[in-house]
Amino acid sequence: MSDTIQKYKDYVMTGFMKSVVPLVADHASGCTITDVNGREYLDCFAGISVVNAGHCNPQVIAAAKAQMDKLVHCSSYIYHVQPVADLAEKLAHIAPRGLTKTFFGNGGAEAIEGAMKLARLYSGKHEFIALHASFHGRSWGTLSITGNMGRKKRGGPYAPGVAFAPVPYALRSNWRNDPEECGRQCAKALDEVVRFATSCDVAAFIAEPVWGEGGIIVPPPNYFKEVKKVLDHYGILFIADEVQSGFARTGKMFAVEHFGVDPDILVTAKGIADGFPLSAYTTRPEIADAYKPGDHLSTFGGNPVSCAAALANIEFMEKENLPGRATENGNYAMAKLRELQKQNPLIGEVRGLGLMIGVELVKDEKLTPATAEADAVRESLFRQGVLVGVGGVYGNVIRFQPPLIITRPQIDRAIEAFATALAEVAQLAHV
Ligand SMILES: Cc1ncc(COP(=O)(O)O)c(C=O)c1O
Repeated sequence: MSDTIQKYKDYVMTGFMKSVVPLVADHASGCTITDVNGREYLDCFAGISVVNAGHCNPQVIAAAKAQMDKLVHCSSYIYHVQPVADLAEKLAHIAPRGLTKTFFGNGGAEAIEGAMKLARLYSGKHEFIALHASFHGRSWGTLSITGNMGRKKRGGPYAPGVAFAPVPYALRSNWRNDPEECGRQCAKALDEVVRFATSCDVAAFIAEPVWGEGGIIVPPPNYFKEVKKVLDHYGILFIADEVQSGFARTGKMFAVEHFGVDPDILVTAKGIADGFPLSAYTTRPEIADAYKPGDHLSTFGGNPVSCAAALANIEFMEKENLPGRATENGNYAMAKLRELQKQNPLIGEVRGLGLMIGVELVKDEKLTPATAEADAVRESLFRQGVLVGVGGVYGNVIRFQPPLIITRPQIDRAIEAFATALAEVAQLAHV
């Protein structure tokens, strides 16, 4: 056994997978991770949807190195630091309409908690509405608004004042063949949740514009417009959790842009700095002004190196048209996967936006989740040198979320390996 794997067993706390994948990563570049033995893996998960501009993107690394030679930390909320100001200005230009002021933190959960705090301070209200199948982080506050028992188990009870509304997951709804109706009915259900499950003291509704951990669920096009009518009626803020769907992943800089609505607070992390730890929430000035002196700070938040990396990352995305490439290559990959679906009853649905793609595996026409099969597919892909994620509330969705610079030959290779994996799993089922 490798020294690193043994040290993990002895000294590292790991609390997610039954066993950490036996890959000891040594270095990475573009879409490839190389292990300590020199074996290359095609990374179709991008470090959980983080390195959108590719592993060790040269422009991002150069910007980070230049910043490291100048200043690593002095506290960006006590002193003025140039990369923080420049990045905040950049975000004001690319964020949805009206969102011009940003608070920087270190990770997704921290930013979500900050957005929740700010929404309460601004609105003077205290409750939240979140959605089934959602995931917003692993701190206590973010688990309180996460709609998935699998993620919450052994940690309850959670914060009071949170109500949950149904997610527009057309495949598993009563409106499987009528997504528009699914969108309408879920927005109507949200109205009922406000009326019957809250005390009319709701600060914000929080949703991922495309659900990530919940299984790459893309809402029907009408859903968020209908939801916004309900929110406006009751004066409830809309927090868009773009921690996973942001930064060109879905073919737009932010996924919410697909749905014709503007959030009040946009939360980002993961893809913001191509792997450097950073998160942000961006909002309108009048909401930002709800923070008064003493209200909020993060020691490492707005780290100058991460901010310099983020700025270079966003400039790379714009220069290389990563949103456009995500759309084109995502459509190409989904078309190929749908071809595969025709010969593979294990594939229940191929869905996605851009290069945020989920393949839901099912055992039969009743859509019984093929959870063990999804794990077996991931393991087969790993043996073939291709890395993917598995998610979904039933653990039966294969997640393709590669770096957005992935090439067509690399996509072809991943899908061929996926076809082999499906064939292996089907064969196992028959012995
Ligand atoms: C939509 C969403 N929100 C929040 C988080 C939490 O982010 P972090 O793990 O950086 O705390 C995640 C992480 O996967 C996420 O996918």
